[in-house]
Amino acid sequence: MASTFPHTFSFLLLLLLPFLSSSYHLNPTTDQLHLSSPAFIPKLQAEKLIRGLNLFPNDEINTAAHHNYSLDAPKLVEKRFKMPYLAAGTTVEELGHHAGYYRLPRSQAARMFYLFFESRTNKSDPVVIWLTGGPGCSSELAVFYENGPFHIANNLSLTWNDHGWDKASNLLYVDQPVGTGFSYTSDDRDIRHDEEGVSNDLYDFLQGFFAQHPQFAKNDFYITGESYAGHYIPAFASRVHKGNKDKEGIPINFKGFAIGNGLTNPEFQYKAYTDYALQMGLIKKPDYDRITQSIPACEQAIKTCGPAGGQPCLDAYMVCNDIFSKIMRIVGDKNYYDIRKQCVGDLCYDFSNMETFLNKKLVRDALGVGDIDFVSCSSTVYEAMLMDWMRNLEVGIPALLEDGIKVLVYAGEYDLICNWLGNSNWVHAMEWSGQKAFGASSTIPFKVGGAEAGLLKSHGPLSFLKVHDAGHMVPMDQPKAALEMLTNWMQGKLAMAEPSETISPK
Ligand SMILES: *[C@@H]1O[C@H](CO)[C@@H](O)[C@H](O)[C@H]1NC(C)=O
Ligand SMILES: *[C@@H]1O[C@H](CO)[C@@H](O)[C@H](O)[C@H]1NC(C)=O
Ligand SMILES: *[C@@H]1O[C@H](CO)[C@@H](O)[C@H](O)[C@H]1NC(C)=O
Repeated sequence: MASTFPHTFSFLLLLLLPFLSSSYHLNPTTDQLHLSSPAFIPKLQAEKLIRGLNLFPNDEINTAAHHNYSLDAPKLVEKRFKMPYLAAGTTVEELGHHAGYYRLPRSQAARMFYLFFESRTNKSDPVVIWLTGGPGCSSELAVFYENGPFHIANNLSLTWNDHGWDKASNLLYVDQPVGTGFSYTSDDRDIRHDEEGVSNDLYDFLQGFFAQHPQFAKNDFYITGESYAGHYIPAFASRVHKGNKDKEGIPINFKGFAIGNGLTNPEFQYKAYTDYALQMGLIKKPDYDRITQSIPACEQAIKTCGPAGGQPCLDAYMVCNDIFSKIMRIVGDKNYYDIRKQCVGDLCYDFSNMETFLNKKLVRDALGVGDIDFVSCSSTVYEAMLMDWMRNLEVGIPALLEDGIKVLVYAGEYDLICNWLGNSNWVHAMEWSGQKAFGASSTIPFKVGGAEAGLLKSHGPLSFLKVHDAGHMVPMDQPKAALEMLTNWMQGKLAMAEPSETISPK
């Protein structure tokens, strides 16, 4: 390896932001990584990357700078709304769509924004919360492009999503960590740096939400999400479970959690990049052999990060992401969220309609957000969470499985960044009482409408699903299969959704 290499290093903004290039160098005498500049994530580059999704947030974090609010305003403010560009014929009351702000009790001045869509089918359906990744990207991305009740047409009118998850659940979306989307704080001390801060805020929010909607508190409750939410979800799940055990607040009828193309156990997932890339023909054997040599250093860095936290975790982030950068230098312009697609210039996805829509006065009035900024993706929130990135969030899952909490890990097969192979590897390696039986269980087809939509492996409360013909955003690419997956999984019949024959055991 070159001794000093002003070398381009690619940050990954999971779920959303494509490359953020920065530079660092390796000190040849100490083997220590040094940041080449104190501001090692140049904001200009971060902005360039957010542009890759065709997003143009006005600010790097939501501080509600131009907004007048009072700290003694009520804890939770909510209103019913009807999107102004939604087909006529329904009233606000019929829709059961709510938007609100919750004042976070463990903060100086933070308010968390949420959307709540009552089930289109049955108010007794489970309550499901969805968390988008980033870290620092708004969950409204999922509302409009993945599993929300509607999609945005190019003329900015809304059309109903026939496979919205509100067809099977009372569906909640929150913008978090604070500073993301419509959630704001005016106080730097409220910026979150780890899963403890994130999970406490989510737990507090849930308490506030169920206090506001006691009629939903007895429903089954599930946590779902994607990408960097592979970190948030297990932490939040453990927090809810602990709150229940300690009889902390309103008991939550917590049944399970699902992680879609998540980053949960970095050690296994970073190791899998070269294997996946080779398997999918993205790199050739000589490249594979060369890049694989970087893996031991990454593993070591992750081990050092594990117990220590802090700077070693930042070092691990840099050392390990070098593996991904090297692969991408060979892969070129392919979209690493979906290797079937090319990025055109910087543009890998175009989510700009969401921003345009949410900045319209009529929409803002309907949602009750007034003049509060919408920060689609926050580079500041992302940066603040960097030391959390390499932490292993798998560690809390076995205890939840032993207590019968259902766990579904699913992944679209064409995603490189949080690929199915790395996810499958950590799920198989996870130590719990059902580990052997899970490993020995057969892989069966997951059928939707008679066709194979994925491959499923399950034992007891644990399921792993590889979803066909999908990239990083499964509900966007395979909306029908995603809704069936959710519905069947919550009903405990994922493995028996449709008559299925056993195929080769893994
Ligand atoms: C906010 O409140 C201050 C003081 O009450 C007032 O001077 C200012 O005009 C208000 N700003 C907005 C945007 O309403
Ligand atoms: C809603 O679900 C509950 C519980 O599963 C059931 O008893 C009820 O009949 C359902 N209502 C409708 C309208 O389907
Ligand atoms: C906007 O586009 C949608 C979907 O293409 C279409 O159904 C609708 O009629 C259009 N609305 C207007 C006002 O043009």
